[in-house]
Amino acid sequence: MDYKKYIAEKLKLCLPDCDVEGFLEIPPDTALGDYALPCFKLSRVMKMPPVKIAENLKAAFVPDDVIEECSAVGGYLNFKINRKKYSADLLEKIITSSGDYGSSQEGAGKTICIDYSSINIAKPFHIGHLSTTVIGSALCKIYRFLGYKVVGINHLGDYGTQFGKLIVAFKKWSDIESVEKGRLKELSRIYVKFHEAAKQDPSLEDEARRYFKLIEDGDAEAGALFELFKKITLEEVDKIYKLLNVDFDSYAGESFYNDKMALVVRELKEKGLLKNSDGAMIVDLEEYGMPPCLILKSDGSSLYATRDIAAAIYRKNTYDFYKCLYVVAYQQNLHFKQIFKVLELMGKPWAKDMVHVSYGMVSLESGSMSTREGKVVLLEDVINKTIEKAYKVIEEKNPDLADKENIARAVGTGAVIFGALCNNKIKDIVFSYDRVLSFEGETCPYVQYTIARCNSVMKKSGAAGDFTVPEMTADEYALLSCLGRFGETVKDAAEKYEPSFVTRYALDLATAFNKFYISSKIACDDENLRNFRLGITRAVQITLTNALTLLGIETVEQM
Ligand code: ARG
Repeated sequence: MDYKKYIAEKLKLCLPDCDVEGFLEIPPDTALGDYALPCFKLSRVMKMPPVKIAENLKAAFVPDDVIEECSAVGGYLNFKINRKKYSADLLEKIITSSGDYGSSQEGAGKTICIDYSSINIAKPFHIGHLSTTVIGSALCKIYRFLGYKVVGINHLGDYGTQFGKLIVAFKKWSDIESVEKGRLKELSRIYVKFHEAAKQDPSLEDEARRYFKLIEDGDAEAGALFELFKKITLEEVDKIYKLLNVDFDSYAGESFYNDKMALVVRELKEKGLLKNSDGAMIVDLEEYGMPPCLILKSDGSSLYATRDIAAAIYRKNTYDFYKCLYVVAYQQNLHFKQIFKVLELMGKPWAKDMVHVSYGMVSLESGSMSTREGKVVLLEDVINKTIEKAYKVIEEKNPDLADKENIARAVGTGAVIFGALCNNKIKDIVFSYDRVLSFEGETCPYVQYTIARCNSVMKKSGAAGDFTVPEMTADEYALLSCLGRFGETVKDAAEKYEPSFVTRYALDLATAFNKFYISSKIACDDENLRNFRLGITRAVQITLTNALTLLGIETVEQM
């Protein structure tokens, strides 16, 4: 039941030619009503003060069994819906649609490309990659839930002279076995070593450039080594992706566009956009208040931006996206503004469909981690440490719990994901183990615990039988109206690219349930009331589970 639409239709009878659906609001206090029309929005057209409009409309409005009451308060027209009918319909809908509750088909036929995580080959996967990975993954799940076709893309950083350096370093100081065994740590070690050595012996840099050229020219040995580094990196990050429930549809990275850039450069030239600047080729963006976008270096090699332009065109041609999102930190704001502008100047009408989903930085609380000078904090270490701490908490609080390892894994990884998605994405985050793992406050364990609480209630009292909705307490109705807001929340989260709307919602719903749990005895003697309350409990369990699933977080039966 779409109440806003229903009210707007009814108001058309009193106000012909006027569609107020978009003006209807949900009042902050449900005691006032369930929906409200702020009449000042009509006073210009109607040439009347809001209070008068509200009174006139109230007099003309005929309540029915869907909208039971209409009242004029100040300049507002407040509507009370038939709460019993609303609650009965809602509970039935949640329980029958279960895992699909909150989903829709509004995106049917539309494709969204989401470029996220986008790691760099042979580089450590560190805490700085947490946000892009979990925000991007949540957006993929949210859009899929809304019926969109989603293409998750890991735009691998797999191009550049650093791979020539790695090959030189590998040949000098490592071998296949050491790399297979030492993995990314070994690659980091020899990479650092290369830079130290190159300070003494600059000819190493020339050698690195030569090897990089060999990779580009398809040399078998150089190519095989590059593939080995890539394989090792992907295997390592895949472990983390599995833990975080993250997956991709494409790993087409920067090097994938090697053979697609000549066309881009030609098109830019044909359209008169390329300018020579000291031998380099640029697109001048001065007119738009931006520094130039570098397309080719003076030696003819391409740049990060060139590859992104080629990638955007490729994605449009391949997927015909409705939107293409880039989940990348705010340090790259300018880069994306530049490439979107260049695409627009190239006459691509779809340049307006590209969105940079920018987010803030993650750092660790100082002192809480043995971050040795200059050493990066590996994401894997952060996750593992959180899992270990979760295990300890379980040992303390509930040592007899079965399957402690799995529960600790779900709680620990959930805490990390939820912690990163808890606030508006543009805010910088200071990660704290204790805070994300706390059972009180705005945390994942709090939500997971609430689900476990629902499970235990249902286990003790059995499934809800048939019921008719009784007179409800304020806490019960507040909980039901919160349950009813899930679909809208998911939609808003997608529209604003803000998974934190879903985390916030999960916290609100958990809080509303816990309030209800304390104020209403669920396992009461009155059979109808008990069934009603069990129905609510089941609906909360379903809705919280769906919310966490959209964030890539697992739930636990008990904890
Ligand atoms: N690999 C890049 C980095 O670590 C991020 C790539 C983002 N995606 C893109 N299409 N540019 O900075």
